[in-house]
Amino acid sequence: MATRHELNVPGDWFVDTSCIDCAAAREVAPGLIVARDGQSVFARQPQTEEELKMAWRARLLCPTASIHTATKQATPDGLFPQELTSGIYRLGYNARGSFGAHSYLIRRQADNFMVDSPRWTSNLVAKLEAWGGLSNILLSHRDDVADADRYARHFGAHVWIHEWDKAAARFADNTIKGREPTAIAEDLLAVPVPGHTKGSVVYLYGDRAAFTGDSLAVSHRDGDLTAFRDACWYSWPEQIKSLRRLLDYSFEWVFAGHGGSGHFPAAQMRLRLENLVQRMANE
Ligand SMILES: [Fe+2]
Repeated sequence: MATRHELNVPGDWFVDTSCIDCAAAREVAPGLIVARDGQSVFARQPQTEEELKMAWRARLLCPTASIHTATKQATPDGLFPQELTSGIYRLGYNARGSFGAHSYLIRRQADNFMVDSPRWTSNLVAKLEAWGGLSNILLSHRDDVADADRYARHFGAHVWIHEWDKAAARFADNTIKGREPTAIAEDLLAVPVPGHTKGSVVYLYGDRAAFTGDSLAVSHRDGDLTAFRDACWYSWPEQIKSLRRLLDYSFEWVFAGHGGSGHFPAAQMRLRLENLVQRMANE
C-alpha cells in the first residue's frame, strides 16, 4: 500500500514515500512535481489537459512506481515516445537499475537509434516495432545500461559502449576505443568524455544534438549548463578536459541521462559550455 508523502499538495495525485529522488519525474512535470526534503512531491495538482499529460508521463517513467492517483484512472495512450524536437524522442519508462536515467530515440530516415535504455516495457516495444524497430543502441556509460541487452536481442540491434565501461555491457558488439572520436554513421559521432566514468561517451547527432549521459546537463535551477561534481566517479580534472574538447563541436540540444535537457542556439551553447568549463576549472 502506497504511503502518501505528507508534503504533497492535497488532491488526487500524489508521490509516495518510496521515491528515490532520481529527479526524473521533475524533468517531465516541472512545476507540478518538485523536490522536498530529498524526495519528490506534487506542489500543484494538474489542472489543464497538458498538465495531466505531464503527470501521467511522470507516473509512467518513475522507476520506483511512486506516483499515484487516489482514484482509479485509465492510463492514457501515446505519451511515450515523447517527441522533444524533430525526430528525437524521450522513451520514458526509466529503469531503477540506472537510477531513473532518461533514454532517447533518434528516428532517422533509414532506421532508429536508441540512446541508453529504458526498462523493458511491452507498450514501448510495440511502438518501436510499429516504427521499424531499432538498428543500434548507443550506451553513454556503464550506469545507464538498464535492459539494453533485452532490447538488442529483440530487435537484433547493434550495441555500442566505450571499452573502458564495457564490463557493464559485455553483450555490446561494438566498442569505442581510447580518446579519439568514432564515426558510427554519417550523422552520428561518438566522442569519448572520460570523467563521470572512465568510459563515458557523448553521442553527437549531426550538428543538432548532444546525448550527454551524466557528463553534461541543463540545470533547471538556473537555466544554465551544469556538470555533477558530487556524482563524478572517475576524475573531475578529466571531466573538465573532456568537456573542453566538446567545444570543438557545434550542437544546440543537450539530452542528459540525469538532470535536465534543453536547447540553446549553437553559439550560445558554445559560450555556456566555455563558461561552465571555466567555472569547473576555478572550483
Ligand atoms: Fe552515471
